[in-house]
Amino acid sequence: MNIEFVAQPGEAQILAVPVHEGDLSGVAAALDQAAEGAVKRAMAASRFTGKGKSHLAMGAPGGVKAASVVLVGAGESGKLDDLGAEAIGAVAYQAVKLSGQKTITLDLTDLSPDQAARAGFGARLGAYHFDKYLTKRKPEKVPSIETVRIVTADVEAAKAAFAPMSAVADAVIFARDLVSEPANVLYPGEFANRVKALESLGLEVEILGEAELEKLGMRTLLAVGMGSERESHVAIMKWNGGAEGDQPIAFVGKGVCFDTGGISIKPAEGMEDMKWDMGGAAAVAGTLMALAGRKAKVNAIGVLGLVENMPDGRAQRPGDVVVSMSGQTVEVINTDAEGRLVLADALWYTQERFKPKFMIDLATLTGAMIVSLGLEYAGIFSNSDEVSDAILAAAPKVGENFWRMPLPDIYERHIESPIADIKNMGNGRAGGSITAALFLKRFVNDTPWAHLDIAPTAWASKAHGPTVPEGGVGFAVRTLDRMVADTYES
Ligand code: BES
Ligand code: MN
Ligand code: ZN
Repeated sequence: MNIEFVAQPGEAQILAVPVHEGDLSGVAAALDQAAEGAVKRAMAASRFTGKGKSHLAMGAPGGVKAASVVLVGAGESGKLDDLGAEAIGAVAYQAVKLSGQKTITLDLTDLSPDQAARAGFGARLGAYHFDKYLTKRKPEKVPSIETVRIVTADVEAAKAAFAPMSAVADAVIFARDLVSEPANVLYPGEFANRVKALESLGLEVEILGEAELEKLGMRTLLAVGMGSERESHVAIMKWNGGAEGDQPIAFVGKGVCFDTGGISIKPAEGMEDMKWDMGGAAAVAGTLMALAGRKAKVNAIGVLGLVENMPDGRAQRPGDVVVSMSGQTVEVINTDAEGRLVLADALWYTQERFKPKFMIDLATLTGAMIVSLGLEYAGIFSNSDEVSDAILAAAPKVGENFWRMPLPDIYERHIESPIADIKNMGNGRAGGSITAALFLKRFVNDTPWAHLDIAPTAWASKAHGPTVPEGGVGFAVRTLDRMVADTYES
């Protein structure tokens, strides 16, 4: 979809204007005047008050040239924030996407150029739909809008503000596509190919295969992939936007392209959800893409552990003992607790090779996280107040929710093994997300570190507001991009 910025509405077929709650002013007031009060009358007859995220579509009244008019709720006047501006763009698009028209003109002359850009950003995110495998849609069900034309008082300023936002939108959409893609298409090698293609943005990408991983001693990661016909990979992404030699920041992602559970196989019902068990790796890839796309002044590393967890004659067994890259031995009690095995080696590798300022791992790690927080919050487990506070400060600005969880030594005993240094599962289900995080902590030395368990939020089974449509969310790309921008860019 195209976002255009123009100084004048011109001849619009569909004209959308923001309306503040209880205050018809600016562009909307002028429209009402031209239409001899028809806007106010339509509002009164429909309970549309200008509340945020709402809209009222109406035929264009006499005196207005357009064919139809959409009033878009902008909330209380003077209180429009970034998320409110994004919602205006998304709601306007969604109101008319099936109209058969190709262009909607959104008159945001009353907003700042930055807010106009935000609306364009919201429209891009809100228009997302993973539709590549829909071959038989009725023509009237195919979105027709191709262009959102935004009217703003300062076209150059709006365009300049939109450029970095659009790079972030590209990255969120890239991550959403990865998450939504089925596992027969997106296996570890294909994931690696898609990440490699990001070199066109100036990223450096290294792809390691099983022979190299074996040499590095990444046996817990390799053990997860042993039952799969697909080769396991680690992808390493580098963005060098900061000063040369500046210590990098690092992101590490769980990329289990499909999680059957392995020999500890999952029940059939709902197993299809496990195509999105690579949501952490998608978020890391998206974050690096966003940083590169907007040329962030930072050195950043992304490390993705890409595997498929399948049951097979060659698969690892419950009870196996595996030597991790760190040298610590792991007793694999449950082959379905595979994400932590992947991350154990990926975290150790990242820490040893890059000595990062901090590292943040992202993973759809535990079902228990969903039990704890529900489907709208992701958990943070961290050994660093600074890193977790930076995440918690950025998230609300971009509409993502995180909650910090405890990482107490007292549960360490749950992951002690009688025959190895550690086992990959706690006792029963109690505190399952915490014991998983404590497992990861064993593979982190003094590096400031945060683990984000995004099992609840990686996938939206229904839309979470106007800018998060149903499907793959690309969760955490926006938060991490914002955290870097606000705290770590030089
Ligand atoms: N990928 C799952 C966690 C998950 C479940 C993510 C539901 C998203 C939705 C993970 O690999 C897993 O299977 N975890 C087990 C751990 C258990 C065996 C200790 C779980 O949560 O049940
Ligand atoms: Mn699993
Ligand atoms: Zn998993």
